[in-house]
Amino acid sequence: MSNKWLQELFFLPRIPEPEIMGNGEGTEAYSSAVSQAYLDEIDNTFVEHALGLGVQRGLVLDIGTGPGQIPIKLALKNPRFQIIGIDLSETMLEKARENAEFHGVQDRVSFQKGDAKHIAFPGAHFDLVVCNSLLHHASHPLAALNEIARVSKPAGAILLRDLRRPLAVAFAAHVTWFGRHYRGLMKKLYVDSVKAAYTPEELETLLSRSEIRGGQIFRKGLTHIGIERRAV
Ligand SMILES: C[S@@+](CC[C@H](N)C(=O)[O-])C[C@H]1O[C@@H](n2cnc3c(N)ncnc32)[C@H](O)[C@@H]1O
Repeated sequence: MSNKWLQELFFLPRIPEPEIMGNGEGTEAYSSAVSQAYLDEIDNTFVEHALGLGVQRGLVLDIGTGPGQIPIKLALKNPRFQIIGIDLSETMLEKARENAEFHGVQDRVSFQKGDAKHIAFPGAHFDLVVCNSLLHHASHPLAALNEIARVSKPAGAILLRDLRRPLAVAFAAHVTWFGRHYRGLMKKLYVDSVKAAYTPEELETLLSRSEIRGGQIFRKGLTHIGIERRAV
């Protein structure tokens, strides 16, 4: 068996996605009722993870906030958080502001245009920095990780979570099973996202090259991986 054949069988090359989720169709698909019910469950596991990192109060940054579900859920769970969500997409930000008003947390959760590669806040500013499903979109993931390291307080917590790209042999079964709740455009977005996601080994390499200190790689089931750092 040649090495090339083995490589094709096991290694699925990464296919990057466009950075910004800017079009209204994508935003609608992303926040449609059908996909939302399933995404809600996934978001809840992210929020529980973030709440367990030892930050009781303070300033939180959510990068690539999309329609704002994560910061809204965090604000509802912990009234002592003041949260800022940033995203490159104005369409997503509009939706996020609407969602925050709907849930009555607009006084504690605000949204502004911002880029993970050049975060417009001073260094050591945030007690908790979170970021869900952004890394596979990021055109310069290392720049994003370094910005996250910069704006986090040295004793602050970090949680970055993303999808996990499976082996080539497992890809079809992986997206069929884990994407079974999605339909139409949302299904396509999901499959493209899995293709653009990192493997745990790739994420480990990114972390080791970044300026994040004290971060660790974690795996969440077969579908998600990420970087976490507890507050000290
Ligand atoms: C898959 S969505 C995830 C949204 C949200 N975090 C969630 O979990 O529901 C990725 C979001 O990241 C945004 N994004 C991509 N690149 C970005 C960057 N460099 N800076 C800020 N936001 C970015 C996209 O516009 C999109 O809204």
